[in-house]
Amino acid sequence: MLIDTHCHLYDEAFRDDFEAVLTRAREAGIEACVMPGIDRSCHDALLAVADALPGFAYPCIGLHPTSVGEDWQEELDFVRKHLADRPWRAVGEIGLDEYWSKEFVEDQIRVLEEQVVLAAEADLPVIIHLREATDDFFRVLEDLRGVSFRGVLHAYTGSYELYRRLLTLGDFHFGIGGVVTYKNAGIASAVEKMSLQDILLETDCPWLTPVPFRGKRNEPAHVRLVAEKIAQIKQVPLEEVAAATTSNARAFFKL
Ligand code: NI
Repeated sequence: MLIDTHCHLYDEAFRDDFEAVLTRAREAGIEACVMPGIDRSCHDALLAVADALPGFAYPCIGLHPTSVGEDWQEELDFVRKHLADRPWRAVGEIGLDEYWSKEFVEDQIRVLEEQVVLAAEADLPVIIHLREATDDFFRVLEDLRGVSFRGVLHAYTGSYELYRRLLTLGDFHFGIGGVVTYKNAGIASAVEKMSLQDILLETDCPWLTPVPFRGKRNEPAHVRLVAEKIAQIKQVPLEEVAAATTSNARAFFKL
């Protein structure tokens, strides 16, 4: 059995064939999905899916860095206000994204730090989205010294050296998704040396579709392709990848 630890099942990309997507996920051995939030605009849709699929689709709440704009204080207040509503599985996704825009970088840093503190207070893990912002992330970790938290670096595509360094700086897991199946993906050589104990499987669907479906919509069933690729890279049985990552995910998110 497998767990998709990062999927946007509430995205409108799944509206037309939602039941078929779920059927394929179950047929592929997916036993649970963790759904990160993005901002206020997706909150109701996310909760509707979580309430329709108890024990299968687990909800998270957080403000995504690309949704940090002029109204970030209202957005952050929304997270704060709803944090006690229900047993969320994580605060996320949160983080830094300097790829799409650098306009609100300082605000992104502040919003990230505040949400990590909120998560630590609520004893929840954080789901971290990092894109072209590694140096600023190190600054954040420096600022947060003394705050005890655990996190997953979602859609991790960094080097083995960066993985080692991050492990010395905090309690991190690493979300591996479809990119590991891409030709010449550097992450494959990192995954070869990473411990299975540190890895969580994810799709980030509807995005980051693995080979051979690259270019089409991604869906939870495809987390199996990620698991198969990791098994091939590490030259271990698929069952070993499934057992380790599923138990990592259950412990990390308290599923
Ligand atoms: Ni995501």
